[in-house]
Amino acid sequence: MNTFHLTNRISRSVAKAAWKKARGESVLPPALNAQTLDQDDVALARAWLYKREQWHDDATVTRFEQAFARWNGSKYAFAFMGGRVALSASLAALGLRAGDEVIIPGYTCVLVPNAFHYAGISTVYADIELDTYGLDMNQLEQRITPRTRAILLHHLYGLVARDYAATLDLARRYDLKVIEDCAQATGATYQGRRVGNDGDIGFYSSEVSKVFTTIMGGVVVTNDDTIAAGIREHYAQTPYPTADWIERQLQNVLLHYYESKHPQRWWLREVAVARYGAGRLHNMPLEEQQGTRPVDYNRRMPAPIAALGLNQLRKLDAYNQQRRTNAARWHQWCNTQGYRQPLVIPESEPVFLRYPVLVAPEQKHQTDWALHNHGVQPGLWFKTHIHPVAWPVHHCHNADQAVQQCINMPMLW
Ligand SMILES: Cc1ncc(COP(=O)(O)O)c(C=O)c1O
Repeated sequence: MNTFHLTNRISRSVAKAAWKKARGESVLPPALNAQTLDQDDVALARAWLYKREQWHDDATVTRFEQAFARWNGSKYAFAFMGGRVALSASLAALGLRAGDEVIIPGYTCVLVPNAFHYAGISTVYADIELDTYGLDMNQLEQRITPRTRAILLHHLYGLVARDYAATLDLARRYDLKVIEDCAQATGATYQGRRVGNDGDIGFYSSEVSKVFTTIMGGVVVTNDDTIAAGIREHYAQTPYPTADWIERQLQNVLLHYYESKHPQRWWLREVAVARYGAGRLHNMPLEEQQGTRPVDYNRRMPAPIAALGLNQLRKLDAYNQQRRTNAARWHQWCNTQGYRQPLVIPESEPVFLRYPVLVAPEQKHQTDWALHNHGVQPGLWFKTHIHPVAWPVHHCHNADQAVQQCINMPMLW
C-alpha cells in the first residue's frame, strides 16, 4: 500500500470515529482477541526478530515448558505450535490407534475431531448441557461402544464443565482414557487444582483468541510417566517451524497488538495492516476446515514463541482475575434481562475467556443491539456444531440450541 492509500484509509478511520462519537456510540468496542498482548510483548517480539541465530534455542523452550508445568501443577509439559498439534502428538502415547473410537462434545471446534481423524480414529459426538456447555453426563454412557477408548471433555468459555467429576468417574468405570480440552480454560481450577490435571492428558492453547496468547501455540501436560515418555518420543521427531513462519508469527504479534489492543487502534490498525497484513496467520486454514492435514501441521514451539509464552504466563493470573471481576457486569445484565447465567460449579474457579449467554435466535443472527445498547460486539462461538464447518451432528439437542442461541461477551476492556 502506498502512502497516498494509507493516508486515505487513516482519514477514513478518523472520520468514522468522529461519526460514531457524534452518535454517542463507542469508538472502540472491546476486541475479543489478543487482549493479553501489551507493549512488553511487542518489544519482545521485535527483539526476537533480530535474534535469528537463537530461534532454535532448546533451552528457552524448556524454560517455558518447565514454567508452564510448575504454574499448572503438572509433572510434564510439552510445547507445540497449537493446541491441536499438542493433542495430535499425544494420541499414540495414550494408546489410541486407527479404528478406535473417541467420544467428544457435539459442540466444538473442527480442529479437535481433525486431530483424531488424521490418525484414523473415529469421533462419536455426545450432547452438551447448557449450564457450562460441557459434556452432558445424562447422555454420555449411551455413546460408549466396544470400540470406545477415550472421552474428550472440554471446559468451554473458561468455565469448569458441570459434569467434570462425573465424567472422570464414568471413564474410570469403563477403563477409558480422559483427554481434557483446556484450550479455552488455561488457569481455571477445580478443588484447588488447575483443570487438565485430572484426566490422562490436558491440552491448552495460546492461539490469538485465548486467555493468553502467542498468536499460535499449545501445550500438553500429563502427570503420568509412561504417557510422558510416549509424548517425548513423538516430540523428539517433531521439527521446528520454518524461519519464514517464525518471522510471520512475530510480526503477527505487532499486527494484533495494534489491531486489537492499543488504545489508539481505531487508526493505528491501518498502519499495522499496511505493514504486516499480507503475512497474517489464519488459525483455521481452508484445508483444515475441509478435514485435510496441512503438511506443516506437526511442529514444535520454537524459542521466540516460547519466550512470548513465558512473558504471557507471568501476566496470566492477573488477567484471569480481571476477567473474573468483569464477569460481575454480565451476571448483573443476565439478572436484569432474565437471561440464564452460566454456571460456576461448586469448588471451581473459572477464567471466563468469554461470557456465554443464550439469547433469542434472531439476536444471534443480528447483533447490532449489543453494540447499540452495551457498546460491545459479541462473539458467535459456535455458529455450527463443529465450528466453523457444517458437519452434521445428530441427537445433540442442547448443542442444536447453543448453535442457534449462544453468543459470548468480551471480558477485557
Ligand atoms: C475448544 C477448542 N479446542 C481446541 C482448540 C485448538 O487450539 P489451537 O488453535 O491452539 O490449535 C480450540 C481453538 O482454536 C478450541 O476453541
